[in-house]
Amino acid sequence: MAVEQVKGLNGLEKVLLKDSTGCSAEVYLYGGHVTSWKNEKGEELLFLSNKALFEPPKAIRGGIPICFPQFSNLGPLVAHGFARNRIWSIDTDPQIAPTPNSSGSFVDLILKPSEEDSKIWPHSFEYRLRVEVGPGGILTLTSRIRNTNPDGKSFSFTFAYHTYFSVSDISEVRVEGLETLDYLDNLQERKRLTEQGDAITFEGELDRIYLQAPRKIAILDHEKNRTFVVIKDGLPDAVVWNPWDKKAKAMSDFGDEEYKHMVCVEAGAIEDPVTLKPSEEWTGRLQLSLLPNTHVGGSLDLPNAL
Ligand code: BG6
Repeated sequence: MAVEQVKGLNGLEKVLLKDSTGCSAEVYLYGGHVTSWKNEKGEELLFLSNKALFEPPKAIRGGIPICFPQFSNLGPLVAHGFARNRIWSIDTDPQIAPTPNSSGSFVDLILKPSEEDSKIWPHSFEYRLRVEVGPGGILTLTSRIRNTNPDGKSFSFTFAYHTYFSVSDISEVRVEGLETLDYLDNLQERKRLTEQGDAITFEGELDRIYLQAPRKIAILDHEKNRTFVVIKDGLPDAVVWNPWDKKAKAMSDFGDEEYKHMVCVEAGAIEDPVTLKPSEEWTGRLQLSLLPNTHVGGSLDLPNAL
């Protein structure tokens, strides 16, 4: 178990987390952004673009960007809100106990709005983020957002953990758990449709917000013979995104062929914004784990390991 703060790319501060079995994660204070999650064999599980810029104010392309207080570009703020392009601080008073009996290691970060932020989003808040790795290499992100407005005003926000998973070949990937759900199709002006297939597979650009998604979603990587399991709490929706070739070429911080090796499955609160009265706190938690495909057996009846 180890927690170490070091200089990352371009001199940006990052925190390295390692659990007792050798699983690890890396968190940049810039964006409160997880850029790496590795299993005990040292294999990278998150996708990070080779062209990712670690240059504020551009968000880091890959890993787990935090979208807050606005998911997407629908709203008055920059696309996906400003939390992903602010420098967070280490939280020395996280006001939450470590997970009992945990053999993992964690870091607590905090983001409070600057005067400039208050001009574009006129609310006072404390956003506390705990990132923990282990036991068993499970990566957990817990966000607690508190309304600290002194003037008695409520505020509303939308949110997502914009996780980029590393996959061997996108055309061999299946996302399970979203069957029969309604979704908003971002490629058709958020038209509301219903998922018909028995799993999501990829043959072209896909950008959908699945509504009221179940707590567990699985991403099966056939070629690597492994499955990511996403468990979400307090986060009703799930975005599935792959830009495919044309959009990939249009993104300056993303390689032309990299769409083949990533998929975003983003746990979020998007359709119905979260509203907080003064002093109220909201919690949204994401847990990511990895299983060999044989343990999943083609269904979401996951073993006790989770
Ligand atoms: C996804 C959206 O969450 O993020 C997509 O659904 C968007 O529409 C993608 O293209 C990437 O956004 P950005 O701002 O990081 O380029």
